[in-house]
Amino acid sequence: MSLTGTPFVRRPYGAYYQRDMKAPDAYLTRVGPDTPCGEFLRRYWQPIAYAHELTDRPLRRRIMGEDLVLFRDGRLEYGLLQLNCCHRGTSLEYGRIEDRGIRCCYHGWLFDVDGRILETPLEPADSTLKDRFYQGAYPVREAGGAVWTYMGPPERMPDMWALDLMNLPGYRLECGEVAGGPNVKECNWLQIVDNFVDPQHEEWLHARHAGVQFTTPAGQVVEALTMFGEAEYIESPTGIATIEMRRLDDETVWIRNIEYIWPNVAALGQLPSWPPKLPDGQNETHAVPYLVLWAVPIDDTNMFELSLVLRPEGKPNPRTSKAAPALKFNASGRTYEEMQREPGDYEAQIGQGPVAVHAREHLATSDRGVAMMRRGIREAIEAVEQGRDPVNVWRNGQLMPTHAGDCALRVPKAANPEDDAQAMRTAGRALIDRLIERGGHTGLCKPRAAE
Ligand code: FES
Ligand SMILES: [Fe+2]
Repeated sequence: MSLTGTPFVRRPYGAYYQRDMKAPDAYLTRVGPDTPCGEFLRRYWQPIAYAHELTDRPLRRRIMGEDLVLFRDGRLEYGLLQLNCCHRGTSLEYGRIEDRGIRCCYHGWLFDVDGRILETPLEPADSTLKDRFYQGAYPVREAGGAVWTYMGPPERMPDMWALDLMNLPGYRLECGEVAGGPNVKECNWLQIVDNFVDPQHEEWLHARHAGVQFTTPAGQVVEALTMFGEAEYIESPTGIATIEMRRLDDETVWIRNIEYIWPNVAALGQLPSWPPKLPDGQNETHAVPYLVLWAVPIDDTNMFELSLVLRPEGKPNPRTSKAAPALKFNASGRTYEEMQREPGDYEAQIGQGPVAVHAREHLATSDRGVAMMRRGIREAIEAVEQGRDPVNVWRNGQLMPTHAGDCALRVPKAANPEDDAQAMRTAGRALIDRLIERGGHTGLCKPRAAE
């Protein structure tokens, strides 16, 4: 099955006929100002830092090809300004945070969090220069231990992300890193989103290639990850539910259930104990996802992952309390030999190059999610170009339903493998249908407070 028009090499030792590197798909991968995809991604709030990264010094950050400086002033108000001072261009990362705003080190111009110029100390006392223009600024919010910005046209600003998972009673939202900043990867943002809709890489990359890399929050190795599952890709109201069913015993099927949420979000989690046990008399058990992950472009060839964790109240943070072994396979910093011997998501993603060239790919059956996602992104970019809101722009004050969360289901084993595979697929699809019908996790949430 090929979902692309890629020319095949049709003979052994045929590299000579395929040396043309071809170009990346600029429409889906370029994120700077005035690019179609960049304008599309600017229609959403994007997380740009963990709140714990803010100190008494300015924080330089590059988002979608724009250099910015983030700070929190003496009033505890956040500011996100264009990096270079509008006077003569010195970087505000060398500025000084004041009770109100940030002051440039060079000639002392003082900027408020919204970009207003408050002082120009070297100008004549009666100068009105400061009242005639602004330093460029973007709006900022803090939520869930992260700092967010909206970099699109002000008149098209959507609601701040209000995923149901961010409002579940009994859970606290915390950032997904113990310390430091987001997880930087030296590749295009779409390579990480490709991975969000590719659950089937788990059984190879994370299980069979160099041993099982996943453990439960309690530290148990998830051996069942080595099984090839039955995968389904289902459109949900907010994204694509990617599910994969594996039979654990004659009665029990594990459903891996990761949801990709347009345009650059994934929600996932694990069953808390392993192997899962169905409670007496019940036919299914669900886990609330504990990880919500944003893939934010730094520029065309760099990105970072910023994650929020749902911590059950009174319990430790399931991601950071006991550093999950899988985390080390998702970050830079290992030796080259370690990367070669035990590759993880980081190596697989940056290994595709700075910007993966889709024209050289040969998409296969296991890439159905990738094809669905790229098609949807293309349509969403077109919507923006035609003056419409893209998918998942909400301005109604409502919670957004999400549908992720691993599950164990009672599905009696069928007489033969084909029928059993079909029974598992049917059970998985029915599960997602039920989750969609019930509104994801929204029914579990309190009504949303007005912004
Ligand atoms: S360059 Fe910033 S005040 Fe002059
Ligand atoms: Fe992975």
